[in-house]
Amino acid sequence: MPKLFEPLALRGITLKNRIAVSPMCQYSSVDGFATDWHLVHLGGRAVGGAGLIISEAAAVSPEGRISPEDLGIWKDEHVPMLQRITAFLLAQGSVPGIQLAHAGRKASTYSPWTGEGAVPESAGGWPVVGPSAVAFADNYPQPTALDAAGIQKVIADFRAAAVRALAAGFQVVELHAAHGYLLHEFLSPLSNLRTDEYGGSFENRIRLLLEVTAATREVWPENLPLLVRISATDWTEGGWNPDEAVQLASILKTRGVDLIDCSTGGNVPKAPIPVGPGYQVEFAGRIREEAGIMTGAVGLITTPAEAEAILANGQADLVLLAREFLREPYFPLLAAHELGVEMPWPAQYERGKPRVQAAAGQR
Ligand SMILES: Cc1cc2nc3c(=O)[nH]c(=O)nc-3n(C[C@H](O)[C@H](O)[C@H](O)COP(=O)(O)O)c2cc1C
Repeated sequence: MPKLFEPLALRGITLKNRIAVSPMCQYSSVDGFATDWHLVHLGGRAVGGAGLIISEAAAVSPEGRISPEDLGIWKDEHVPMLQRITAFLLAQGSVPGIQLAHAGRKASTYSPWTGEGAVPESAGGWPVVGPSAVAFADNYPQPTALDAAGIQKVIADFRAAAVRALAAGFQVVELHAAHGYLLHEFLSPLSNLRTDEYGGSFENRIRLLLEVTAATREVWPENLPLLVRISATDWTEGGWNPDEAVQLASILKTRGVDLIDCSTGGNVPKAPIPVGPGYQVEFAGRIREEAGIMTGAVGLITTPAEAEAILANGQADLVLLAREFLREPYFPLLAAHELGVEMPWPAQYERGKPRVQAAAGQR
């Protein structure tokens, strides 16, 4: 049996395979609400056989949205539509996960097809916050440094969002601490210039993430898994680095985190990232080995053979695909065929299932 199709147990739940839909913003919400688009988009990948489907970054507060069109989970009214989506995913045998996020200093920016850089308040933007009053880039909003009360609000927002995620039927929560958003901004000395207990030393820079993790774990049931997505490196001298990522992962392991989803970058514009097939897999491998925690590998994984090799080499426990799933929602069903695994297709689609000796056009 290829590793890709071995079930993966995470606390009280079991993924039917090790293929996950990586979180992908759809910029298709108004006031944070999920829509029919999300149902069809996420639902389609469940029909395609993904073991785990993680929703796009769901903002824990309105000011934590990347763009005005982001998904949100900051009020109870958001729950019913999300519940409809999770029920559909579960009915297809996929585990529904949600990524909880706060965009920090990268909030209030245009979604990709509506513009670039900061959305001014006159056009629906809002004041943004970060660890320090340092903008991400010239055309990004100027953040205000969070004060003690602001930090407590962020922690409380993540906690409340996790409670809503549970009510909405999600079985996995992933905290977004990557890609230059708020929690990553605190981790990195390039964006965190604070001199209080949240800045400076490694212990201080990881403090907010640990507090958010603790608050989430407090309300997220013991039998359900908690994932954290990190950027394992800023790819920049003097920035957050892989050694710190390993150290952080070892600590998160002791705080009720079950798996580290290993991405990179996003906190420094134009960082020299050596993009290529599987370019981030080494970090998943290193963290898995040195921190002794389960990892997810992500980034330019596009074929069943690549995905299988990552698992077989012991570099990760789960593979996450993003753009390949935009091209091919049925990646898992087709990967099973390619790797010679018998995987049931949804009954409605059974007649499309590839067979060795398919009789084309036969009724
Ligand atoms: C359209 C799109 C939206 C994305 N939105 C998110 C997001 O909400 N949260 C996140 O952590 N990563 C996001 N990403 C990054 C992906 O999850 C993934 O890490 C990245 O695309 C690399 O994987 P890939 O090469 O398989 O696409 C997004 C990527 C794409 C293409």
